[in-house]
Amino acid sequence: MNDRKDDSIDFGYQKVARSEKKSLVANVFQSVAAKYDVMNDLMSFGIHRLWKRYTIDCSGVRKGMKVLDIAGGTGDLTAQFSRRVGPEGEVVLADINDAMLKVGRDKLRDRGVVGNVRYVQADAEELPFDDNSFDIITIAFGLRNVTDKDKALRSMLRVLKPGGRLLILEFSKPVSATLNQAYDFYSFNILPKMGQVVANDADSYQYLAESIRMHPDQETLKSMMETAGYEKVDYQNMTGGVVALHRGYKF
Ligand SMILES: C[S@@+](CC[C@H](N)C(=O)[O-])C[C@H]1O[C@@H](n2cnc3c(N)ncnc32)[C@H](O)[C@@H]1O
Repeated sequence: MNDRKDDSIDFGYQKVARSEKKSLVANVFQSVAAKYDVMNDLMSFGIHRLWKRYTIDCSGVRKGMKVLDIAGGTGDLTAQFSRRVGPEGEVVLADINDAMLKVGRDKLRDRGVVGNVRYVQADAEELPFDDNSFDIITIAFGLRNVTDKDKALRSMLRVLKPGGRLLILEFSKPVSATLNQAYDFYSFNILPKMGQVVANDADSYQYLAESIRMHPDQETLKSMMETAGYEKVDYQNMTGGVVALHRGYKF
């Protein structure tokens, strides 16, 4: 992990200038956007759908609520939130990348998810929303890619309503050494090859594997959330800690 305010930062295992990371991440998602959903299903054997369903279940979403799905990409969470908040609620699908947003908007419209969803191109570090705007904010598999994670955590806290909650769904650290070894083998030997065959892009999936290893582990992310000002922060491991769901509240 390297989120300090010096002038270099991790981009996977490479050190790059802080000012460069956003455009490098943008290139990754520009490149994978069209094949993003099919690769997600293949890479996770479909399990990402269960992780996302569990996130919705833990969100406390109710009719009429206002939800921000930041780094929402192709909109899996947005689609489920849209049904749950109903016509009197609203879901904002926001992402820094116009290619991901476009794939998301087309997919959701094809599925008839219309009426209560708004699409906004936005950076998690500098959210273009009023203070105290949202009942729920989710960021799924997005925080890992953000240059200044502390700034993004503060920005999300600012736009959260008092009583609202943030849910961070992200790859994390497997709890068992055996699982960790198998996961390493899969990530570094199989994933990039799969990326090459399906998306003609091994590099982006090599970045995926590296960025996961560089992301803060469960306890570190928990304390980053507490430092940013979230309260009652907790997390739950899923699939043996391959993924963790962190939750924190604004009071
Ligand atoms: C792995 S995708 C996750 C998409 C979706 N949330 C999901 O779970 O399938 C990560 C997304 O984060 C977006 N992203 C990266 N940096 C961001 C930032 N600073 N602000 C907002 N979105 C960002 C990328 O454009 C990409 O769409």
